[in-house]
Amino acid sequence: MTEHTFSILKPDATRRNLTGAVNAVIEAAGLRIVAQKRIHMTTAQAGKFYEVHSERPFFGELVEFMTSGPVVVQVLEGENAVARYREVMGATNPANADEGTIRKLFAESVGENTVHGSDSQDNAALEIAQFFSGLEIVG
Ligand code: CMP
Repeated sequence: MTEHTFSILKPDATRRNLTGAVNAVIEAAGLRIVAQKRIHMTTAQAGKFYEVHSERPFFGELVEFMTSGPVVVQVLEGENAVARYREVMGATNPANADEGTIRKLFAESVGENTVHGSDSQDNAALEIAQFFSGLEIVG
């Protein structure tokens, strides 16, 4: 089934000029980038986006990192895009990520792990709506 998922190329990726390298892995995996923009998240935006983690000990660090530099927010389209992108990203902790995954190739640590991808279709819809209008998604 053709789906959309939400992706973020995190500040560690933009800092190291890896936008194109990460996008090449995404496209080689058969996912299509149907919306993309580079933004600098505010603390309010990052806090809202990661609200589900607000009680976690790393929440402050996570918000600080996600606002430390530009990010690239994206909508990816493809067959089973949510699950497919999670495979392509690899495990949250790059130490556990499979060969060839984005996090194995590029991530620096569990916090600075290069990419975010939605964990369900419901969350994908919510996350996409936080950053994109329907007009910006061009499939
Ligand atoms: P992400 O998929 O963006 O969703 C939540 C993020 O929290 C996760 O990726 C990690 O980057 C981050 N995270 C998870 N565990 C830790 C941790 N122990 N320390 C710092 N950040 C973490």
